[in-house]
Amino acid sequence: MKCEIKHSAIAGVGSYVPENVLTNFALEKMLDTSDEWICSRSGIRERRLSAADEATSDLALKASVRALANAGVSPEEVDLIIVATNTPDMLFPATACLVQDGLGAKNAGAFDLLAGCTGFIYAMAVADQFIAAGTARTVLVAGSETLTKVLNWQDRSTCVLFGDGAGAVVMKQAPEDRGILAVKLGSDGSGGKLLQLPAGGSRMPASAQTVAEGMHFLQMNGREVFKFAVRAMEDGAGEVLRRAGLTLADVDFLVPHQANIRIIEHAAKKMNLPMERVAVNVDRYGNTSTASVPIALEEALAAGKIKDGDHVIMVGFGAGLTWAGLLIKWYNFSQ
Ligand code: ACO
Repeated sequence: MKCEIKHSAIAGVGSYVPENVLTNFALEKMLDTSDEWICSRSGIRERRLSAADEATSDLALKASVRALANAGVSPEEVDLIIVATNTPDMLFPATACLVQDGLGAKNAGAFDLLAGCTGFIYAMAVADQFIAAGTARTVLVAGSETLTKVLNWQDRSTCVLFGDGAGAVVMKQAPEDRGILAVKLGSDGSGGKLLQLPAGGSRMPASAQTVAEGMHFLQMNGREVFKFAVRAMEDGAGEVLRRAGLTLADVDFLVPHQANIRIIEHAAKKMNLPMERVAVNVDRYGNTSTASVPIALEEALAAGKIKDGDHVIMVGFGAGLTWAGLLIKWYNFSQ
C-alpha cells in the first residue's frame, strides 16, 4: 500500500515592525560611522527599534494575530506554536508560551526554537514534519526579534547592522503536489564563536563582571560570517533543488535572509535570478534575524510577486553556525 505523505503550505502571513525608525544619519550623530559606509557595505539605510516596554513576544503576538486573520484561522484551531528567536523575553518560560497565552490558543502546544537567524526556516521545517506525520493540522510559526536590546551601541561594527521586527505564518496541509517540496538544514558548531552572545547562560552566568565587560552583548566576526554566508546561501538553494529534482531554471522567486545586500545579490547572481524576483527589505529594516524571511515574504505576496504554482526558495544562515534552504510550490489557499 502506498503511503501518501502530505506536506504543508502557507495559509496566511503576517508581520509587525516597531514604529520607531533609526536612520543611518541618526547613527552618524551617535558613532564614528557614516551613511555612505553603512549603505555601501550592507545596503542598510534604516532599521526599527522596539520601545523600552516592547519585548519579543509582543512583536510576535502582533505578527501572529495578523497571520491568523490572513489565514482565516481562529486561535482555538492552532495545534502548535513555534517561535524562532535569539532574543526571547527571558531564558524561560518560552516566548512561544507567552504568545500562546496572548492569542488564547488554548489547544496549542508551544515551544521556542533557537537556530540563529536561520531559526524561522528551521521552524517551518519542523512544522512541516508535524503536519506530514498527521500530529498537527494547523501550526503557527513566528520569527521575532528585539536584537537592538542586545547590541553594544558603542561597537560600530555590529550595532549598525541589526533591527527589530516579527513575522509569522500559519501552516496547513497542502494538496497533493503543492507545499514544501524539499528542505536542507545545515550546521557547523565549530564556527559558533563567530557570532555569539556569551553571558547569561550556564557557561558564563550573568554577573556584575560580565556586564562590566559587555559580555551580554552580541559579538560578531563580520568578515568571517560574510564568507560563510555566501557559501551557505549557495548550498541551501542548490541542495533543495537537487532533492526536489528541479533546476535553477525552475525557480520563480527567492526569499533570502536579509543580512546584507551584497550577500543577497551574490546569491541571486549565482541563481541567474534578476533582482525583481528576489525579496529585499534589508534597506528598510536591517537584519531582523529570524523575522527577516517572513517579513520579506509578506511584502512579496502583497506586491503580487508570488503566484499560485510558483517555485519559491527560502534561504538563510546565522549563528550556530546554521544554514538552511526550503523549497515551496506555492499554493493559494484563498483561490
Ligand atoms: N562605520 C565605519 N567604519 C566601520 C564600521 C562602521 N559602522 N564598522 C566597521 N568599520 C571599519 C572597520 O573598523 C574596518 O576598518 P579597518 O580596515 O581600518 O580595520 C573597515 O570598516 C572594514 O571592515 P570590514 O569588516 O572589512 O568590512 P566589510 O566590508 O567586511 O563589511 C560587514 C562588514 C558589513 C559586517 C560584513 O562583513 C557583513 O555583512 N558580514 C556578514 C554579517 C552577517 O551577515 N551577520 C548576520 C548573521 S545572521 C545571525 O545569526 C544574526
